[in-house]
Amino acid sequence: MASKFVTPTLTDQPTDGSLPILEGTLGPAAVDIQTLFARQGILAYDPGFRSTASCKSSITFVDGDNGVLLYRGYPIEELAQHSNFVEVAYLLMNGELPTPNQLRTFQNELLDFNLLHDQVMSFFRGFRRDAHPMAVMVGVVGALSAFYHDVIDLQNPADRHRAAIRLIAKMPMIAAASYTYSVGRPQRYPNNELDYSSNFLQMMFGRPNREHKVDPVLARAFDVILILHADHEQNASTSTVRMAASSGANPFACVAAGIASLWGPAHGGANEAVLKMLSEIGTVENIPKVIARAKDKSSSFRLMGFGHRVYKNFDPRSRVIQQQASQVLTHLGIDDPLLEIAMRLEEIATKDEYFVERKLYPNVDFYSGILLRAMGFPVNMFTAVFALARTAGWVSHWLELQSENHGIDRPRQLYVGSGKRSYPANK
Ligand code: ACO
Repeated sequence: MASKFVTPTLTDQPTDGSLPILEGTLGPAAVDIQTLFARQGILAYDPGFRSTASCKSSITFVDGDNGVLLYRGYPIEELAQHSNFVEVAYLLMNGELPTPNQLRTFQNELLDFNLLHDQVMSFFRGFRRDAHPMAVMVGVVGALSAFYHDVIDLQNPADRHRAAIRLIAKMPMIAAASYTYSVGRPQRYPNNELDYSSNFLQMMFGRPNREHKVDPVLARAFDVILILHADHEQNASTSTVRMAASSGANPFACVAAGIASLWGPAHGGANEAVLKMLSEIGTVENIPKVIARAKDKSSSFRLMGFGHRVYKNFDPRSRVIQQQASQVLTHLGIDDPLLEIAMRLEEIATKDEYFVERKLYPNVDFYSGILLRAMGFPVNMFTAVFALARTAGWVSHWLELQSENHGIDRPRQLYVGSGKRSYPANK
């Protein structure tokens, strides 16, 4: 389509027509094209945002070429080893690790707000009992905006903080209820004696008629899953939350939009798709056929859990999760044939020219499904768990956006439709 080419003038000294370069703390610099249209009457074209920094952010840094992921500067591997999800949520929201007092206050705030208004439970009953948990979560989180609308003044930092806390605090009960409803089990309440992850596990797996003791190994593994999925800079769902928020929309509605975006198989839905794919492969002998299908350009099939828009070396989260999966399987004494298929598939694909050339490596979703399955999660809850974790990132980005005078996000377009024409007189 390109018929003319333009070389943008990039200089250190501002001259007419030049575009300033913005340097970040880490990562590539960005050409500031905000005045491009006003000065030169031309738009930048970048569908899929492959070369576009949509905002400035100081929350998360990803270096896809070197497999680096930092939350507020801290490497994901160190956080997964030494921290816990609540502390990580605090870090993402506030920029610094909490002091013991700050952490206690934050934990108490989460406990104070972890119940759902009883009327919210009636929303669950409006869904078909076989509704996908993500469909339920989109609906119920969106519905929460009706409960907390007039009470949020977006100009007031205390109101914004409370909205963020409410979202992180209530998401476990919402996610658990979206499952228990589907199996016809009454929803358990949070138990404030338990930590965040144990609490979710008891609401998810506990029954109303008996004591439920959460296995600490599983609680820790689940906490690591939450840490690994808590944020990932400007991915599709986070960008969706930010874009919805740029109009001043209610934060619960913004996060509902983020959940909708996360659901797709190219994003958070991939862990569900990975497990389906591994089950369909069935045995190690079938792997070459599947690899051939993934390479066949006449087929739309892709190797699920492989490839990433940003990671072109390895996804640091996939190593941590693979370790967790092996540990949990050993702890539970499970010999899952799907783990063997996954490991063999990784081994074959990462040596295959097609995948090497295109820098396609296992992403976080490749092993997370195996781990979640071993912990007893049904496949359709995998993405719901991702949404639970990512809420910490979404609210952090929402808070960051609210603290800036960003204005509404309004991309432009390259119009390729019909020219102006008249409505036919004889129609
Ligand atoms: N299997 C086979 N081929 C692939 C795969 C895959 N999983 N991923 C990319 N490719 C190929 C494409 O066909 C394309 O080949 P071509 O250059 O010959 O046309 C090339 O690699 C580049 O692919 P793009 O679609 O341009 O890569 P993009 O960065 O847009 O996509 C994505 C990234 C969506 C993650 C893609 O790799 C994919 O669909 N993976 C499978 C789904 C998945 O695992 N998603 C989870 C992402 S991680 C997360 O959300 C937490």
